[in-house]
Amino acid sequence: MPLKKKPTGTLISFEGSEGSGKSTQIAHLAKRLQDAGRDVISLREPGGTEIGEQIRNIIVHNSKGDEMCAETELLLFAAARAQLVREVIAPALVKGTVVLSDRFLDSSTVYQGIGRNLGAGPVESINRFAVGNVMPDLTIVIDVPTEVSLARLRQRASDVPDRMERENVSFYKKVREGYLVLAKGMPERFFVVDGTKPEKTVEKAIWTAVQKRLG
Ligand code: TMP
Repeated sequence: MPLKKKPTGTLISFEGSEGSGKSTQIAHLAKRLQDAGRDVISLREPGGTEIGEQIRNIIVHNSKGDEMCAETELLLFAAARAQLVREVIAPALVKGTVVLSDRFLDSSTVYQGIGRNLGAGPVESINRFAVGNVMPDLTIVIDVPTEVSLARLRQRASDVPDRMERENVSFYKKVREGYLVLAKGMPERFFVVDGTKPEKTVEKAIWTAVQKRLG
């Protein structure tokens, strides 16, 4: 269903491998935007709605998860995204809110299209069907080398890796490369920041990019 009113809000998506520091940087950006007087909501994908959180549980924690085929995985991510767009993101954009999303359609392009080898064509059409005309105004990729990403993952408090986190190094290398190629192809939408730099440096770089791109 297309949006009826022209949105006045802004959608900023954050992308990157596991352990890239997306949630920390989303919290910093939300604070800066709120201090600047903007209405802000922060969401995560998959999730952000009751239906989406249930889907997240199936994808990430399902005990039969290892038997899930790549096509099912893609469609479940898309289903969660379709719900999030219509229930939360589109209405927020119409109200002029800045929406910060921890992952959006580019995650499917990279994880399912490239990581799972489903190919760009099918993922692109399913993505388009899921989001309608709601596209990010800016996508921030926090880039970290795969070794750093995996080391950070291992340090996380929850010792048991979830289904997505049990992938091998070559999968994550493809994911990282995929993001970089995507960003290079669409420089007007993407901003890539070096996630190995100190947290404050990354925060400042993101804030500068947001101000520059969105005014
Ligand atoms: P998170 O750990 O950043 O919350 O993301 C959950 C996992 O789901 C992560 O491994 C990335 C993966 N994912 C996809 O594979 N495709 C998608 O479309 C999305 C949104 C996430």
